[in-house]
Amino acid sequence: MKSAKVFWDKAAPCYAKSPVKDEETYQKKLSITRSYFQRDWSVLEFGCGTGSTAIQHAAHVDHILATDVSPRMLEIAERKAREAGIGNIRFQEGSLETLDLAPSSFDAVLGLNILHLLEDAEGAIHRVHALLKPGGVFVSSTALVAEMAFY
Ligand SMILES: C[S@@+](CC[C@H](N)C(=O)[O-])C[C@H]1O[C@@H](n2cnc3c(N)ncnc32)[C@H](O)[C@@H]1O
Repeated sequence: MKSAKVFWDKAAPCYAKSPVKDEETYQKKLSITRSYFQRDWSVLEFGCGTGSTAIQHAAHVDHILATDVSPRMLEIAERKAREAGIGNIRFQEGSLETLDLAPSSFDAVLGLNILHLLEDAEGAIHRVHALLKPGGVFVSSTALVAEMAFY
């Protein structure tokens, strides 16, 4: 976990500057995600990076808890949210393992471009399930690790 934090802290300034590779697909994913949202929803995002997606969704839900292991990523995310005038995202450092989150407390959990980076992706999915209210949704967009050469 410490090495992930070091790696992503270093990567953060560059990550923040890199443009979305496929804007059309990104917009489609935002739109599909929003089709599940309701205005009074409480949303958790883990591995939120520099907060771009949470910022895009903030106006469509009640509040978002956006979390990441990298303080540098969160610092950038907080600044971006502030500059965008977004007040309903709380940023918190930590992972699904370390964060003290109440069971059945979120209507939706977002885990975007993150599952393939975790040592125990299955464990993470179990944790997400425990954090979701009954009928809640888990939105994930993840590389197909089984098809990746290095796996
Ligand atoms: C590829 S980036 C994706 C960021 C964002 N979700 C996106 O789609 O742009 C992966 C992010 O996950 C974070 N991360 C890595 N390991 C993590 C873990 N175990 N728990 C939570 N976040 C983690 C990194 O700090 C980084 O911000």
